[in-house]
Amino acid sequence: MRRVLDWANMPDPFRHYEGVPVLDLPADPPAPELSALDVLRGASGTTPAGDGPALLSQLLFYSAAISASKRVPSTGYSYALRVNPSSGNLHPTEFHFLTRGLKGWPDGLYHYDPSRHMAEQRGRGDFAIEPAGGSAPIVFVLTSIVWREAWKYGERAYRYCLHDLGHAWQALALSARAIGCHSSAVGYFQDDDVARMFHLNGDEWPMLIVSLDGKSIPLREADTGKTAWFGGQANQLSTETIAYPLIDSIHFATKRSSIGSSGTSFAEPAPTGSGEIKLPPPSSSARSFGEVARMRRSALDFLGGKQSMSLAQLSAILAATAQPLWADFAGTRFIQLCLYAHRVDGLQPGIYRFLAERAELEQIKSGDQRVAAAGLSLGQDLAGNACVTFSMIGDLDRAARSYGDRGYRYVHFEAGAIGHRLYLAAEAVGLGATGIGAFYDDEVHRYLNLVPNQGQVVYHFAIGYPVPDPRVSASNEPREITW
Ligand SMILES: Cc1cc2nc3c(=O)[nH]c(=O)nc-3n(C[C@H](O)[C@H](O)[C@H](O)COP(=O)(O)O)c2cc1C
Repeated sequence: MRRVLDWANMPDPFRHYEGVPVLDLPADPPAPELSALDVLRGASGTTPAGDGPALLSQLLFYSAAISASKRVPSTGYSYALRVNPSSGNLHPTEFHFLTRGLKGWPDGLYHYDPSRHMAEQRGRGDFAIEPAGGSAPIVFVLTSIVWREAWKYGERAYRYCLHDLGHAWQALALSARAIGCHSSAVGYFQDDDVARMFHLNGDEWPMLIVSLDGKSIPLREADTGKTAWFGGQANQLSTETIAYPLIDSIHFATKRSSIGSSGTSFAEPAPTGSGEIKLPPPSSSARSFGEVARMRRSALDFLGGKQSMSLAQLSAILAATAQPLWADFAGTRFIQLCLYAHRVDGLQPGIYRFLAERAELEQIKSGDQRVAAAGLSLGQDLAGNACVTFSMIGDLDRAARSYGDRGYRYVHFEAGAIGHRLYLAAEAVGLGATGIGAFYDDEVHRYLNLVPNQGQVVYHFAIGYPVPDPRVSASNEPREITW
């Protein structure tokens, strides 16, 4: 059944806390110059930032800020697009962070407001986030406001929130890497304790803790003064919020993991295999991380026709997904990439499994897959017009054996993280990409001959030559954009 959207009740995509001090983040932070592909391969950059405000500004400008605007010709309305993508551009993920001992910046708890590129100070002084936060100088808590997605997508929204979170995590981790910081994420924590410590509004659920450290963070002694709590009043996002009991129950189940531990040592390893096609050395690209992160956009559609991508470009894109993801749940992978190769030089049209450890492809179906890929992706043409489309197959059973019900979150975080790496790598090698959350689950399983214990499709993705979108313009002026 087609959903009718209640536009008058659309949730505000920006959260604000009324009544708290707002700290400016310097405008126009310098672009990280290391090449995006190098950052994706794990190289670490540098930063000229000499104090906390400059560093935080640069970090957030290249991970979570507004980066473009889109004008709808029929209404003349402009809306904001951000560095991190989001299903339906609804942006359920919020970035909260605490700082300790940053030069020129008061210790405290903050909420990032992308609409102004400013930090709302919810508390000043020394705060701790249970053991999961460690003693790092900068600790983020990424939260999801599920209602923002549920407004449009109903029960499927929970998945989209987890994907979005995975994208936001990688946006943050890679921006940190590009300026010389190391990040480590923790998915296993006491949800209610973290929500309490951050005084999160009832509509925000903590999902991931990401700690940053490294020599590039300009430090001073930590504050010894008393803490002050400002809190602030969270803005109401909609006139009415509709409850989705199934979402509440899934979230509740993932909060109560009984098996597994916070470490990775208990995680059951991924099965291995080999393929008949060895990928060539990856193509190179000098495009800087700063440029790629801010230029990244979702393609509305791709140019079909004859133009193909090279196998070396595909090799570079796939290599970017195979790098370690620094998280307590990422010691082993739960996602298997299946590729629908439509137009890749040197690769017969067909479906392939990517064997990441060996940089090999194994063909599992031959023949033209364009109609199938579009049909399986809810009839979206872009999945057929792309050069290559992906089904990400998540091993939910193995994740549950390793981490209990919490594993459901981790599989989707990993899918979002891989998706984000696909976006940036595609942009770096001169292509475009689009995440695809809308697909027919059961049909994909049937088409790929997946039996239940071989995993379930959790995310689709397409890469190709984007159709230009005249409605989009780049923006460094978030304050001028109105929603
Ligand atoms: C998890 C996820 C699912 C998405 N699903 C679709 C989809 O099914 N079809 C589509 O055209 N775009 C999809 N997108 C792309 C979003 O519409 C896009 O990210 C959003 O409009 C913001 O644009 P931007 O990526 O250029 O910033 C998806 C993005 C994400 C992160």
